[in-house]
Amino acid sequence: MTQSVAPAEQRSGKGPGEVVLEVRNLTKHFPVGTLFRPKAVKALNDVSFTISRGQVVALVGESGSGKSTTARLISRLMPPTSGEIILRGKNVLKTEPHRPSLSYRKEVQMIFQDPFGSLNPVHTISHHLERPLEIHKMVTDKNLLGRVHELLETVGLTPPDEAARKYPYQMSGGQRQRVAIARALAVEPEIILADEPISMLDVSIRMGVLNLMEQLKEERGIGFLYITHDLASARYIGDRTMVMYTGYLVEAAESRELMEQPAHPYTQMLMAAVPNPEGGLIKKKAEARGEIPSLTDMPPGCPFAARCPKVMDICKRSMPGRTQLSQTSDHWVRCHLYGQGEEKQATTTAQL
Ligand SMILES: Nc1ncnc2c1ncn2[C@@H]1O[C@H](COP(=O)(O)OP(=O)(O)O)[C@@H](O)[C@H]1O
Ligand SMILES: [Mg+2]
Repeated sequence: MTQSVAPAEQRSGKGPGEVVLEVRNLTKHFPVGTLFRPKAVKALNDVSFTISRGQVVALVGESGSGKSTTARLISRLMPPTSGEIILRGKNVLKTEPHRPSLSYRKEVQMIFQDPFGSLNPVHTISHHLERPLEIHKMVTDKNLLGRVHELLETVGLTPPDEAARKYPYQMSGGQRQRVAIARALAVEPEIILADEPISMLDVSIRMGVLNLMEQLKEERGIGFLYITHDLASARYIGDRTMVMYTGYLVEAAESRELMEQPAHPYTQMLMAAVPNPEGGLIKKKAEARGEIPSLTDMPPGCPFAARCPKVMDICKRSMPGRTQLSQTSDHWVRCHLYGQGEEKQATTTAQL
């Protein structure tokens, strides 16, 4: 997505509302290896952020950086190794530790990358939308079809009676992703976790799906976690952007500030690889070098140290905490170039 369009914060003109979802120090280590040689894939480490009403928070990172793991933990498809998930002030891993309540499953919906895989080929579109309405008792039987049609209209699938009768194979990828969004909307959620929702769609229809998400944020106040590996789409729709590297959030800020003043060398490297819409050329050559470390064998210190053009001695010894760079756009970074971090540090000097 490289169209030159005004970024989210300029179009909406509205700030986000109150915090709906907060995650604190979310960590996921997958046990692998053998009984005698146990190992762990350190997929997610110490991840904290909030999503407010009517706010799109973009989570950007390369493949394997932990983005989907973040969404799966929040949707509670699997438990975290440690950390907290707080929905509207309720610490849900404490109040409903074993499985998410029906109410949590209603409030936090997920949209997946693959619109083919997420719909059942033997059922009509109508069936896909009726199920959540019935399970969560959203309407009476009498109003069921009317509500299905309303949802289809909301996501731009018209005429709705025709769309409702179709099977998934009779729809395009973009239409199927709209059905997935309608299904999430059916239960009137507060948060939608959208895991690379446009990356499998044709370029020509990506913008339509992003605009639909924005309309839902504006009109219904839904908060989104928008997961992508594409900085341009993060800037387009994200009020805020967070950058993830090897399971760590390394920088976050309002999207425009992050793109205009990237502080972390990794964010700077990502920015350098974004095609420039004006010239259509790469701005400058990314200075990438070295390898992404193995998640089962993470070196002590900052995980970007091996690739960082500005690496210092301390980077190889300890992982810095967050340093706040700007209060107004809540811009923070985890990098020794800006200090040790103001929060308690996850220092790894003990491993030296
Ligand atoms: N069930 C699992 N067991 C072991 N490793 C896993 C499992 N799920 C994900 N991983 C690993 O965790 C890391 C992060 O994966 P993921 O969150 O899917 O990344 P992303 O969505 O950013 O591409 C990857 O190295 C992946 O192989
Ligand atoms: Mg993923």
